[in-house]
This record gives sequence, structure tokens and C-alpha cells, in this order.
Amino acid sequence: MDKSLPEDLGEASGNGAAQAAALQALSRNSGLRPWRLGNKTLLPVVQGGMGVGISAGGLAGAVAGLGGVGTISSVDLRRHHPDLMARTANVARQPDARARIDAANLEALDREIKRARTLSGGRGMIAVNIMRAVSEYEHYVRQSLASGIDAVVVGAGLPLDLPELGRDHPQVALIPILSDLRGVQLVMRKWEKKGRLPDAIVIENPRLAGGHLGAAKVADLQDHRFDFEVVLPEVMAFFRSAGLDGRIPLIAAGGISSLDDIRRLQGLGASAVQLGTAFAVTLECDAHPEFKRVLADATPEDIVEFTSVAGLPARAVRTPWLDKYLRNESKLKEKARVQPNCNMWFDCLSHCGLRDGNANWGQFCIDKELGQALEGDRHEGLFFRGAGRLPFGNQIRSVHELMQWLVGGILPPGVRESEQDGWQSAQRSEAALEAAQE
Ligand SMILES: Cc1cc2nc3c(=O)[nH]c(=O)nc-3n(C[C@H](O)[C@H](O)[C@H](O)COP(=O)(O)O)c2cc1C
Repeated sequence: MDKSLPEDLGEASGNGAAQAAALQALSRNSGLRPWRLGNKTLLPVVQGGMGVGISAGGLAGAVAGLGGVGTISSVDLRRHHPDLMARTANVARQPDARARIDAANLEALDREIKRARTLSGGRGMIAVNIMRAVSEYEHYVRQSLASGIDAVVVGAGLPLDLPELGRDHPQVALIPILSDLRGVQLVMRKWEKKGRLPDAIVIENPRLAGGHLGAAKVADLQDHRFDFEVVLPEVMAFFRSAGLDGRIPLIAAGGISSLDDIRRLQGLGASAVQLGTAFAVTLECDAHPEFKRVLADATPEDIVEFTSVAGLPARAVRTPWLDKYLRNESKLKEKARVQPNCNMWFDCLSHCGLRDGNANWGQFCIDKELGQALEGDRHEGLFFRGAGRLPFGNQIRSVHELMQWLVGGILPPGVRESEQDGWQSAQRSEAALEAAQE
């Protein structure tokens, strides 16, 4: 996508192994604990999956190549492959439209996993993020396993059936994304009956993260029960009471932007942290440069929350399209009707507010809007973004520079640490600590 970059930026420099070793040493010197997943010792930094196409093989491979976890988002990856787009260009109204698009997307997923693996030089870990809410969820999981992925990470719904899907690949880490103790207890109970424990759990804070959020409705997003100071100790205490102390690493996600954040979260019991927005604005991110500019140039007043077509709250930048949509939302909801077919002919979501005429859910085509954002259309696209500040203000820098900042507190030349200037932070107020102590 980013045509100004060589295809293999990660390995083109040829010194990925040396950079990864230096980052490990830097991280240790900063007092951060490395963590283990499967048989790998990793930097405590995970790059979160970002769809549609924002984190493909390029970004995931660059992060893994430096010793972290790089995550490919599985949804509609054919968008990165002109031949697959050409193959599925004129399928509208044909009976096999969905089958052909799905097949193209599975082929694209296989290609992106292989691309990430090559770029990583065998270092770090490559994960695939799959939304439970997408209709091809099961096929995406199976393709990821067949393509040799290291970890499958599932959010946007409860992956209660993941243990069965992963049964023949016991070496592949299975990681749910959850937001509070209740969700953790539910998944653990169901998985235990199937003889499997999560290999790690992402605890994503819906107050701060980008994209779809793990709360029932927009009004719940600011609830203190999601604060890291509340959830992490609660989950740790639950693990202790279940005799699982130290067995399931926790990965904290949402609003994290500095070494101090990582130290604090490791102090609360997290093994690693996951960042989305900060990786979306790196040079290696697979989106168009204009996508990165929209995220990096946004101010706190530009960030907005709304209900997506998947029925979940979501957070994005109030771009012209989103502004217009939100102004017309109630009228569109009044007109909600079951549609004869999906706008894009492949029914990306199992349940879609627009296609299914559900007036309580969003009323737009999410694949079309996210696709336009991926291509850098700042007027028509939907640009997911977290509510936290970015480490380097509005600068687009490399994954290596971001990693050096996160694990070593080293700022790239020409960058000053961005000031709080109204952005939210992963650090919660005294109120959260009080709530945690109650
Ligand atoms: C552009 C964008 C797209 C995202 N898409 C997905 C997704 O497809 N699946 C998912 O589980 N999380 C998604 N997320 C959430 C990230 O993986 C990550 O957990 C979250 O953004 C962390 O918060 P941060 O952006 O404040 O670092 C997305 C986030 C962004 C910014």
C-alpha cells in the first residue's frame, strides 16, 4: 500500500537480528520483564490486529522481526492483492459471489502470513486476529492454522468454540480478547470443560482502545470497572483462587504510549501490552499514507464513539463521512429494513445492522467504509482510532523507533515526547484506584 517503501523494509536493512537483540537488552535494562508465549521469549510489546487491511503481513512482519508479536487482521485481505481484486471484481448478483470472495480472502490470508513470516526472519511471533462477529470466522481460523500461524487472537464476541477449532494444532497459542473479569471467568469456565486454557488473554480497555469495543453500549465505555487498576488485580486474584497463578499471561491494551505505562502495567500484573493506533501510524503499517495522516493529525475533539453495524460500540475519527452519518443516524435507523443482499456480496458479518434491518445497530456498510480508509480516502473512509495520545505527536516514524521508545524510553532524533494536551492516558485518576480498593 505505502508505495514509498521497499516491499521488504524489515529485512531490507539486513540488521533485524541485531536490532532485536539490542531491543531485548534495552528492555531488560529498563526493568521490563520479558514474557514467554509458546516456546518463545518475547519483548513485552504486541501490535494489535487492525482491519480492514491496516495490519497485514508488512506491519506484523516488521514487529515480529524485532522480537515482539505482530498481528495480521484476517478480514478482507484480498484488498492488498490486485490479482485477487480483479478475480472478484464482477461477481455482483452471481450465485457464487460470496464463495469466490471468501476463497480470495483465504488465499490473501495465506499470502500475508507467509509474507510476515519472511519479513520476521523467524524472530518474534506472528498472530492472526479474527473477529468472532465475522461470518467467515471459522474458515479464517482454519486457514490461519493451516498456514502455520503462531497464535490466533479472537475479539468482537466470545470465542467459546476456539478450543475445538485449535485442537489439532496444540502448539498454536489461543488468545481471547476480553475487557472485564466477568468475560474472563465465562471464557475460562467454558474452555476448562473442553480441556484447554487460554495461552494468554488480551484485556482491552474500551475507554481508550480503537475500533470495536468490548462493552455492551456506548454509555458504558467510561465505566471504572474496565480500568486496568481494577481489572488486572481482579483477574490475577481470580487466577490465584483457581490455582492458575502465573500460568496465563495478561496483555493490557488501550491508550498505552510509553515505557512508564508498560512498567506500571507490569506492576499491576500484565506480562505485556498491546498497542494499535501507535503502530497504525508507523512507516511499515500496511495502510495508505493518508490513513496514517488522518490518525496522527486528529485532536482529542475529533474522536467519537458510536454503534457499529456489528452492534458493538466503536471509536473512530470524526471525518466528513462519519460526521454526516452521525448527523443522519436517527433518520437512517427509522428507515432500517431487511436488505435483499449484502452491499459487498460476501456478508462479511454474521449479523449486520444494515443488511438485517436492525434499527438498534449501525446503518452503514462497514467493509466499504473501512476499505476506503485503507486506501486513504479522508472524506469517505471510516478511520478507527484509539482515544489516547500518540508517542511521537503527529509524526509518522518506523516500527524500530517506536519499539526503542516503548522498551527503552529513547526518542528518535527530532521528536519531543508529545505532551498530554487533552489526550486521555492509560493512567487513570485517583478515582480508579479508590474504586479498585473498594
Ligand atoms: C485502525 C484500527 C483498527 C482496529 N481493528 C481491529 C480489529 O479488526 N480487530 C480487533 O480485535 N481489534 C482491532 N483494533 C484494536 C487494536 O487491535 C488494539 O487492541 C487497540 O487499538 C489498542 O488501543 P490503542 O489504539 O489505544 O493502542 C483496531 C484498532 C485500530 C486503531
